Amino acid sequence: MGSSESGENPVLGFRVYVTSNEVPEEALEIIRKVAEVKIYGRPGTPSREELLKEVADVDGLYCNINERIDAELLGSGKKLKVVASMSVGFDHIDLEAATKRGIMSTHTPGVLTEAVADETFGLMIALSRRLVEADRFVRDGSWKLKWSPMMLVGRDVYRKTLGIYGLGRIGVAVARRAKGFGMRVLYYDPIRNQEAERTLGIEYKSKEDVLRQSDFVSVHVPLTPETRNSIGVSELSMMKKTAYIINTARGGVVDESALVEALEGGTIAGAALDVFEREPISPDNPLLGIKNVVVAPHIASGSVESRTAMAVLAANNLVAALRGETPPNLINKEVLERSG
Ligand code: DGY
Repeated sequence: MGSSESGENPVLGFRVYVTSNEVPEEALEIIRKVAEVKIYGRPGTPSREELLKEVADVDGLYCNINERIDAELLGSGKKLKVVASMSVGFDHIDLEAATKRGIMSTHTPGVLTEAVADETFGLMIALSRRLVEADRFVRDGSWKLKWSPMMLVGRDVYRKTLGIYGLGRIGVAVARRAKGFGMRVLYYDPIRNQEAERTLGIEYKSKEDVLRQSDFVSVHVPLTPETRNSIGVSELSMMKKTAYIINTARGGVVDESALVEALEGGTIAGAALDVFEREPISPDNPLLGIKNVVVAPHIASGSVESRTAMAVLAANNLVAALRGETPPNLINKEVLERSG
């Protein structure tokens, strides 16, 4: 199912499949200048069978993190030149398979950085100041006494120690915000960023020291074979009993069963999670039964400004590749050597 539209002037005669009918018009207009666009016509994402079928006949695929772009899918795209994902993360794309087939893969870094950092801070404050519990408390009629000294008290964010695990663009944006909250900021990343240390006054520590010394640990690493489950039983047990963990990166970085155990056993004080090992989360996931857990449905980049910019950037990447240019956000640069 889908709607097929001829572009006003698809001069280059390409065909592109767009996997979501929620992609903003500004982005579609960019693609229509060079290609005939077919859009998945229902809310949600195409089935695997449908995607395999659609990809068979297109030059470009405009997708997002819902679609698994693996060797089978890439292999079915006989004319496929580019996979443009409307996401910064690319753990859903088999880059090696794409490169082997000469298919460019692109993502959308930069334009969602501030939105994700905002949500990270929002979650941090909601968790430590118990704002979600407080909302429920008011709505369910539990608020009986006008004010009481210890009603729903939480813990300060101001002047606490924040540990950032992964200091890419988003980690830096979170650190910048933390400075406004008078926080001491520690970070661990395999690559040290001395400029950020100088300009933001943040401190480089081992991963263990970040975990041991922080009141809030915020996860900002991409999901790779190295980072998968890199916060597990032993890492959680290094954290303070009063510390909170916030994850707006990828669910697979934090071992969920270890996290449930740590929360239930009081090893840490709470968790705020925008991402999960399985999305959407199953209603019987034990995390949902734990009071000191705040959850959101993978919406860290979900501001109108950020999502529109992501959509437009993904479109520009796709069009550049179709025009035979190097897309601004090409991930698998090795593909150029292959074709050049
Ligand atoms: C990304 O861009 O990778 C997010 O997870 C979706 O916004």
